[in-house]
Amino acid sequence: MKPINELRIAIANDHAGYEMKTAIVEYLKSKSPLALKDFGSHSPESVDYPDYAHPMALAIENGEFDFGISICGTGNGISMVLNKHQGIRAGLCWSEEIAELVRLHNDANILSLPGRFISIEQALRMIDVFFSTDFEGGRHQRRIDKIPVC
Ligand code: RB5
Repeated sequence: MKPINELRIAIANDHAGYEMKTAIVEYLKSKSPLALKDFGSHSPESVDYPDYAHPMALAIENGEFDFGISICGTGNGISMVLNKHQGIRAGLCWSEEIAELVRLHNDANILSLPGRFISIEQALRMIDVFFSTDFEGGRHQRRIDKIPVC
């Protein structure tokens, strides 16, 4: 894993993830990533998470960004959208151990967070783990190679 200041990171959320997203963006800015793009939404006003998730997924798939972070209320809806994209592996995480395993075993390229069910402090701890853990490869590479449907 490259250091965070060499990574291009994207972030997307809905209204239920807006507050957490704002705190995460501030935290990431303090780490000086190579690039940081906020795909929105940009207020607590009610929105539809696919409108923000699809553009971020496409930008990661086409190589504009190395990793993404996604946040909705449970983390599930936005993950469902992202994982429709064949080049995306979005992992829903709620603990540091799962954030570590989703990199070690699943080579996740998006950390998906349940904004209504974890604290901002917990989210930031998971971000630290996610962005400092390498994929293990080996048998896990064989398994992720079998994920795409076409
Ligand atoms: C919004 O109320 C909520 O349904 C959404 O953020 C998310 O949890 C959906 O999976």
